[in-house]
Amino acid sequence: MKADRIYNFNPGPAALPLPVLEEIQESFLNYGGSGMSVAEISHRSKEFDDIINDAVARIRRLLKLDDGWQVLFIQGGASTQFCMVPMNLLGDGDTADYVDTGTWSTKAIKEARTLDKAVRVPASSEDRNFCYIPSAIEFNPDAVYAHITSNNTIKGTQWAEFPDTGGVPLVADMSSDIMSRPMDMGKFGLVYAGAQKNIGPAGVCLVIIRKDMLDRVPDQLPSMLKYTTFAAKNSLYNTPPSFAIYTVQLVLKWIEETIGGLEEMEGVNRRKAASLYDFFDGSDFYRGTADVDSRSVMNITFRLPDENLEAMFVKQALESGLGGLKGHRSVGGCRASIYNPTPIEAVEALIDFMKTFEKQAG
Ligand SMILES: Cc1ncc(COP(=O)(O)O)c(C=O)c1O
Repeated sequence: MKADRIYNFNPGPAALPLPVLEEIQESFLNYGGSGMSVAEISHRSKEFDDIINDAVARIRRLLKLDDGWQVLFIQGGASTQFCMVPMNLLGDGDTADYVDTGTWSTKAIKEARTLDKAVRVPASSEDRNFCYIPSAIEFNPDAVYAHITSNNTIKGTQWAEFPDTGGVPLVADMSSDIMSRPMDMGKFGLVYAGAQKNIGPAGVCLVIIRKDMLDRVPDQLPSMLKYTTFAAKNSLYNTPPSFAIYTVQLVLKWIEETIGGLEEMEGVNRRKAASLYDFFDGSDFYRGTADVDSRSVMNITFRLPDENLEAMFVKQALESGLGGLKGHRSVGGCRASIYNPTPIEAVEALIDFMKTFEKQAG
């Protein structure tokens, strides 16, 4: 760790790889000899074309996407996708299935229903406060798509395997686990992810859409809410969030060239999560909140014996250089978000701190 930096466990915006931040710092005043900051170059310039095309090429390589897929960068966060997905994909008489695994899934369902779209919820884990991922789900074979949230940032649960929908394309909100593991994209029709957790800063949302899904997009939607607008112009219909896309490009380069790809990334991520969960499993003081088979590799949610101890834990952790450990305000408790950029040393430092804290307070 650099002397003046802390280990950052924020849920998003979240830690970025240090080499990426250093490269940004280096190119910030004079990008590639252009005499301008990367934040000052035109989105119509050759320099920016190279940045966005390289980012797209890296996404294609990492996820093994063939020509049947379109990669888009859209603003408005994952929250805008909650309305764009049904607006673009569900016409009159169409229906979609949405699995409800908590906060973000619930919001996606609400947005689709606000648009008067026919949405069915074939499974929900609300009965136990969303601490697990439902199984043996019966999907509607006539649904246009089946929506899931692959990782539930607030509840600390994650789909270990994607459900069998009987051929209905999955649409997944992957905001908090995109590029954290290799994926078979064959099951999917569309994937979206706000960049600010695993692949970059806030300000841009990655959307990966199967090209045949673009045929469903109705003409009469406003231009900025149509996937086809972004697809026709390589995400350059209007001014894109160029600095955010540049940072995404650098994080993808780091995943490919420094980490070695998604299999290696998954290995690192699994090692980080396993060391924390193993530690909880051997402790009477710290308690994980998610069912074991539904535990997230990205957001490790846990409780201490009481709320006073939790508040003290979060405060003292920060004083020891470990930030962002407070659970989401809707659920309380504690949460360590350990996305792609979080180094294993951060998790080791956290476990050391947890041991010391338990000794003092337990
Ligand atoms: C899984 C998931 N979906 C959606 C969102 C909302 O993303 P945004 O703030 O980019 O709209 C979040 C934010 O934390 C999230 O974790």
